This record gives sequence, C-alpha cells and structure tokens, in this order.
Amino acid sequence: MKRCAKWIIGGILLAGCLVQLWQPERTNPPVAPGEDFFASNAPPAEVTSILRAACYDCHSYETRWPWYSKVTPLSWWVVDHVKEGRDRLNFSEWPHDRTRKARSYYRGIQEEVEYGKMPLPSYTWMHAGARLSEQQRQALMEWAEEQVELLQGGADDE
Ligand code: HEC
Repeated sequence: MKRCAKWIIGGILLAGCLVQLWQPERTNPPVAPGEDFFASNAPPAEVTSILRAACYDCHSYETRWPWYSKVTPLSWWVVDHVKEGRDRLNFSEWPHDRTRKARSYYRGIQEEVEYGKMPLPSYTWMHAGARLSEQQRQALMEWAEEQVELLQGGADDE
C-alpha cells in the first residue's frame, strides 16, 4: 500500500513537471515608431503613471510578464487576458489619426473605470501598484471624459 502511494505521488509530481513544457507564447511585439499612445498624446503626469502602472501590462506590447505567467496552468490564463486585452484596446497601436476610434477608446476607458471593471480585479490582487485610489480613479475618468469631448465633432474616420 505504501509503495503504491509513492508511485501515485511520484506520478503526480512528474505530470506537474511535464505539463510545464506545455506553454503558451508570451509575446511583446516591437512597437512601431510613432504608434504608441504617448507618441502623440501627453496626458497629465498622474494619468501617465496610472496608465503605465495599471493598464499597459494587458493593453500594450510592453507587458511585464510576471513569474507566474511561466507556470502552467496560470500561464494560459495570464496570456489569455493579455491577448484579449490587446484585442480590445492596444496603446501600442493607438489610432492617432482616427478620431472616432480614439474617442470610443476614451469612452471605454471612462466607463470601465467607472464601473470598477478595469483594471481587472484578478490583476490588482497580484499588483498592489495597480490598485487605484478613489482620487486616481477620478483623475483617470475626468481625463478620459475630457478627451471624449475634445474629439467630439472632429474630422472622422472609417
Ligand atoms: C490583467 C489584464 C488587464 C489589465 C491590467 C487591464 N485590462 Fe482592460 N481589459 C482586459 C481584458 C481581458 C478585457 C476584455 C474583457 C473584458 O472586458 O472584461 C479588457 C477590456 C477593456 C476595455 C474594453 C474595451 C472594449 O472592448 O470596450 C477597456 C476600455 C479597458 N479594458 C481599459 C482598461 C484600463 C483603462 C485599464 C487600466 C486602468 C485596464 N483596462 C487594465 C484586461 C486588462
């Protein structure tokens, strides 16, 4: 019986190691010159640091991959968030000349923060630096709202 338990535990440990070989790709594609959001936008310093600290890991090509993004099965979960995040809003591919698109991003930022959906709670749980204070949330929302208004009635795209 004891021997049997050893084999079972050994098998589980071995499987746990083998499964580490099964890894998703963690990419950080190069950011084309002039494409990044900050190439043509200069928000207040506070907003800049919030975006970098709380959003850029999932919404840009400058992801700082955490150690647990290398551990299966967490890796799949993290990579999925980043993939989906980049699909929805990518600061590394900002629509500089497309007013309507940019406006809808600003609107989205304002709303997601207002409803407490962003940054993702599962992320702030692991990243204390991304937990926004009420004042930071307000600063981010007010700034986004201002951009929506500034772009209102601008030359349109699409
Ligand atoms: C841990 C990864 C992660 C972080 C950090 C994060 N997001 Fe997201 N974001 C996602 C994912 C995944 C989605 C798509 C699924 C969803 O909406 O829940 C998303 C969706 C969005 C959308 C919706 C886009 C649309 O399709 O309407 C906006 C806007 C957004 N995020 C803004 C932000 C802002 C602003 C921050 C920083 C304050 C932030 N996010 C931080 C992962 C993240």
